[in-house]
Amino acid sequence: MDLVPADHFTYEELTDAYNQTRVDYLVPMPMNVARLKEYTRVYDVDLQGSCVAMHDNDMLGLGMLGVRRNRSWITRLGVLPSGRRHGTATAIMETLIQQARQRQLDQVWLEVIQGNTPAHTLFCKMGFRETRELIVARRPPSPDSSNGYADQVQKVTALGHDEAIALLAGRQHQANWLNETETMRNVRNLSALVVEFTNGRKGWVTYHASILQLTRIIVEVEHGDLTDTTAAILSVLHERYQHQDAKTENLPDDAQWQGFVQVGYFDSFRRIEMVKNLTE
Ligand SMILES: CC(C)(COP(=O)(O)OP(=O)(O)OC[C@H]1O[C@@H](n2cnc3c(N)ncnc32)[C@H](O)[C@@H]1OP(=O)(O)O)[C@@H](O)C(=O)NCCC(=O)NCCS
Repeated sequence: MDLVPADHFTYEELTDAYNQTRVDYLVPMPMNVARLKEYTRVYDVDLQGSCVAMHDNDMLGLGMLGVRRNRSWITRLGVLPSGRRHGTATAIMETLIQQARQRQLDQVWLEVIQGNTPAHTLFCKMGFRETRELIVARRPPSPDSSNGYADQVQKVTALGHDEAIALLAGRQHQANWLNETETMRNVRNLSALVVEFTNGRKGWVTYHASILQLTRIIVEVEHGDLTDTTAAILSVLHERYQHQDAKTENLPDDAQWQGFVQVGYFDSFRRIEMVKNLTE
């Protein structure tokens, strides 16, 4: 088996290999070339540090490495079903970790979908430890989204991308690779609403809006009860975007999540976040 840097392949070849590794995946996530390009850009994937396992001219599997400041992130790991349990994923993981070490990075992060026992077992074996459980949530569109909060709203200030990034940079909650400020900077056209309520509660929401969907929703409460104020801020957002369904990734299961639940979000699936320290 040869482990070849992913930048030796075209995006077409990488997309095809990735899709073949995921034919039997827990949550279907088919890729196309445009989406893989966008994914590598938004999540700072370093294709030179990423690798493809080859046997002669056949691709056996692949794994990708995101790199930011002192941290790295492993993603898109997969082995074709016909070649599993022969140590291919272990060899890919070792190469990716070695690449992170060569770049003198302190940590490697990753997420694994809850219930993916093969991958979870592999990561534990390789010295990754669990940090927290994260929720991927969705909400269908709803014509009446005010949830009774409409008369409590005092002021709503709509902001553009740069101001949304400034809000995110000052956030208190610990973010994950998918929703941290470095990711959001790479996403085009984020928006934000800063919402003040008559009873002194205050906070903001940042999001990406398209004709069909709201994504990348992050809420921060500055004053007021975390659950209730989150629900109130989200109600203002969904009043404005009544026809879009909403999707947001990697929220911790905490009091703020209960605010999302109050306005109709449901838990689509969960991921386990894991980390390996390279400095020990
Ligand atoms: C998870 C995956 C990458 C493992 O690839 P692989 O090449 O078969 O893994 P390896 O042969 O290197 O296995 C290493 C160890 O992982 C664990 N493991 C792998 N597959 C397993 C399974 N089906 N059940 C339980 N443990 C498993 C074992 O401990 C194994 O060691 P062993 O074979 O000596 O018992 C592969 O199953 C896959 O591509 N799955 C679909 C995509 C996916 O889940 N990607 C990960 C997303 S986070």
